[in-house]
Amino acid sequence: MVFFVLLLASSVLAIARAVSFPAGVIATGTQGVTNPPVPTMPTTINQTSMARLLSLNSIDDFCLFAPPSLASIPDTETEEVAWCTMPRNNARVIPDGTFSGLSFLKTDFYVQIMGTGNLTNLNIAPHDDGGELDPHGATGAGNPIGGNVTTTVANGIDEPIAEWMLYISDTEFCIRACYFANETYPAKFMCWHELDVMGCEFVMPGTYNPPGTFETCDADVAYPPGWYPTVNANGQTSFSTFAQFFTGVFTGGNGQPTPYTVGDTVTPTAPAFIPSSSNCVTQATISNGIAPALLTANAVGTAPPPGFSTSVAASGAASGSASASTPAGSESAGGSGSAGAGASNTATPTNKGTGGASAGAGSSSGAAPTGSSPARRGARVGHGSDGEFAAIALLSLVSGLAAIVLLH
Ligand SMILES: *[C@@H]1O[C@H](CO)[C@@H](O)[C@H](O)[C@H]1NC(C)=O
Ligand SMILES: *[C@@H]1O[C@H](CO)[C@@H](O)[C@H](O)[C@H]1NC(C)=O
Ligand SMILES: *[C@@H]1O[C@H](CO)[C@@H](O)[C@H](O)[C@H]1NC(C)=O
Ligand SMILES: *[C@@H]1O[C@H](CO)[C@@H](O)[C@H](O)[C@H]1NC(C)=O
Repeated sequence: MVFFVLLLASSVLAIARAVSFPAGVIATGTQGVTNPPVPTMPTTINQTSMARLLSLNSIDDFCLFAPPSLASIPDTETEEVAWCTMPRNNARVIPDGTFSGLSFLKTDFYVQIMGTGNLTNLNIAPHDDGGELDPHGATGAGNPIGGNVTTTVANGIDEPIAEWMLYISDTEFCIRACYFANETYPAKFMCWHELDVMGCEFVMPGTYNPPGTFETCDADVAYPPGWYPTVNANGQTSFSTFAQFFTGVFTGGNGQPTPYTVGDTVTPTAPAFIPSSSNCVTQATISNGIAPALLTANAVGTAPPPGFSTSVAASGAASGSASASTPAGSESAGGSGSAGAGASNTATPTNKGTGGASAGAGSSSGAAPTGSSPARRGARVGHGSDGEFAAIALLSLVSGLAAIVLLH
């Protein structure tokens, strides 16, 4: 195993907002072009919408990304659109009865929702093992392109969140938005997006209930995905990180193919620990009360649906870009800066198609946790987006395994 030690930059805190958020937490760009400029509720029903703005506010007011028309997630990563439980954000509305169980978890660092249901209602192809979506993607414009996420959980107003990840299949999903951070746990690590094949229960551990439970809970903070702590003789905690194993062939500017291997050959079977939930409040189900007939494929309304016309005011003027601080400091922790620099000459263009997406999923050697999915463990990596796969390969090649030493 190769380790290198990184001292996290100490300048993580940026004070720029009424409530200050650490650097790297609040998204500073504009919303994607298909999105309304800020989250809004109610909006008229539009089941043909291409809007890509998720809000993750509560067990009955959240959104997911799913295909615009029936397809598998890996085939449509760049094109997914927003589907919301409420008529909001100009997005498509999820019909009542879609979910068979939901857990809405609030932790000190992130909001996380896990759920089961019939997600073919969201145009996900039956039997799709699913895939992973995040704001990075092949071009850095996100998967889906221009996809954005907000939450009111941090402070009661809509905050645009820079780092999030969604695993979703035809029967289950888990989504995390990282609305807080500290020097130990920068948002980009707490919402680390490179363990595509590991599945929800590994990447976003927590209490996964069988279908039938709808609950809102507090929860302990997990370690960032793939991090395993060790306390040394001096009482220092360090973390080793698991990197998803895959191999491929990369053809440089000189036309020479070079095989590479990235990550651990032994895949861990479980996260370092499973955070507990507490203070859970359960309910029978969730419902927006909108008649199914108004939510059929391609349905378009002319006004907000009954019950929403006057009630809920637009949920707040989102806050825009306050944090002026440079993210550069925290970026360095993962080695991604140097990865870009080191690899850029040879890497970028020629990798398309050579990465061998199939190598990713197949070569992990650990046992899969039972029932794990979307998702489901084994979800393909890079399928339909070999550009992203190549980019991940090069990044991981350089960052490899990192141990992060904490100074106490
Ligand atoms: C929207 O998403 C894009 C792509 O990930 C990002 O560059 C931008 O900062 C996001 N904007 C907001 C307000 O979340
Ligand atoms: C519905 O969404 C589509 C795609 O984004 C858009 O072209 C159309 O104008 C929308 N219709 C209404 C009534 O908002
Ligand atoms: C999911 O819902 C669709 C219709 O919305 C239905 O045809 C299908 O049988 C359902 N699947 C399951 C597993 O219940
Ligand atoms: C960050 O938060 C975690 C979880 O509360 C804590 O264990 C850690 O010591 C904190 N790091 C710093 C630098 O405060």
